[in-house]
Amino acid sequence: MLKVVVLVSGGGTNLQAIIDGVAAGTIKNVEIAGVISNNYGVKSLERAEKASIPAFCISPKDFDTREEFNNALLDRIDSLSADLVVLAGFLVRIPEAMVKKYSNRIINIHPSLIPSFCGVGYYGLKVHEKALERGVKVTGATVHFVNEGMDEGPIIAQKAVEVLEGDTPEVLQRRVMEQAEWILLPKAIDDFANGRLTVSDGKVLHKN
Ligand code: GRF
Repeated sequence: MLKVVVLVSGGGTNLQAIIDGVAAGTIKNVEIAGVISNNYGVKSLERAEKASIPAFCISPKDFDTREEFNNALLDRIDSLSADLVVLAGFLVRIPEAMVKKYSNRIINIHPSLIPSFCGVGYYGLKVHEKALERGVKVTGATVHFVNEGMDEGPIIAQKAVEVLEGDTPEVLQRRVMEQAEWILLPKAIDDFANGRLTVSDGKVLHKN
């Protein structure tokens, strides 16, 4: 069983897709060992508790320095014996020490087709605002391994989603979630857990 720790910041619909996938058996050989939020009182924590998954809040506000927060986060992940760390809408920059320690074992979902609309300042709803501002006709989502860069790690999977006339950022966000994120992220976890993903020379190779 692969132990997965999911990091979240908000609503947790991606977390829910993972919980549902494990329950339905479409994600095989995975145990969700814990969910960690950087924010108190978010729906993600409720979703974890409802599924009887150990849930923790580690907020930067509870620490004097960023370094102390980073250490507490890493300690918690270590104590859960994570084999894979999944960033499912986690709006905190991952500490360098964690990227090093969990190299090729941290994956992130980003709501655009990387390298478009990614990097510093592109998170959550902002990504969709920028896509609409630019007038793109197609957007989507990307699952990738996390490296030292911002949204720069090896790409695991991408799925395109149409932008429609009259879309608001909220409407587009929902379509990207439904048509891309909730499909791509569970599949990537299943592939990782069952030996179908390898990274070589910074590129992801898929086995069937
Ligand atoms: C998702 O769109 C994710 O790609 C982005 O933030 C959103 C989180 O949504 N990084 P949720 O918390 O999974 O509902």
